[in-house]
Amino acid sequence: MLSIALTKGRLEKQSVQLFEKCGYGVEQLQNKGRQLVLKDTIKDYEYFLVKGADCITYVSHGVADIGFVGKDTLLESKQGYYEVLDLKLGKCGFIVASLPDKNPFEKMGHVTIGTKYPSVAKQFFSEKGMDVEIIKIEGSVELSPLLGLCDAIVDIMETGSTLKENGLVVFDRICDISARVIVNKASFKLKRKEIESFLSDIKSVLD
Ligand code: PRP
Repeated sequence: MLSIALTKGRLEKQSVQLFEKCGYGVEQLQNKGRQLVLKDTIKDYEYFLVKGADCITYVSHGVADIGFVGKDTLLESKQGYYEVLDLKLGKCGFIVASLPDKNPFEKMGHVTIGTKYPSVAKQFFSEKGMDVEIIKIEGSVELSPLLGLCDAIVDIMETGSTLKENGLVVFDRICDISARVIVNKASFKLKRKEIESFLSDIKSVLD
């Protein structure tokens, strides 16, 4: 039996589509209602639906053998797991953005950065030799420079429309992001055959 933790939301639908292409029994996943644990009706797989950061926690603790999660979340929360596959889904990037006249790289003195990703932001600015103050925000991050809570934001950008519609511009692109498959380290040894077979199914439908 393999237990697979799926990140709820944007990535969920694309993950289920991949499983369907693999010929897996995804009826429960497609008609889940409020259920959080779903069984595959063909394979001996069980799926859990969780938030991205929790996906990493479940896999790191071995409660889930496999996780589907965004690289943004992996970069923010480093725990013990193997990252085994780039699904090339949910492609976006980490960016630094603000109002056009608020370039944080040109500001003298104290710079504040609003973000859902404090570790990523801290590391990026410290590599640039900038000692910035990070303000943790849980969502609608684009609002924070508009209201003057911070000078700029570090956030993910997919289409760019949220930035555009709020009059913000990109000052730097930190890195590209996409969805990844992670595997628990012990499961990788103990269930190697099953995991390799699962990964090979997924790879075969990726293109
Ligand atoms: C993310 C991100 C941006 C938006 C970017 O937020 O934080 O706000 O998506 O997408 P775009 O470039 O296609 O406009 P999300 O929708 O996950 O919601 P949140 O603001 O509640 O975090």
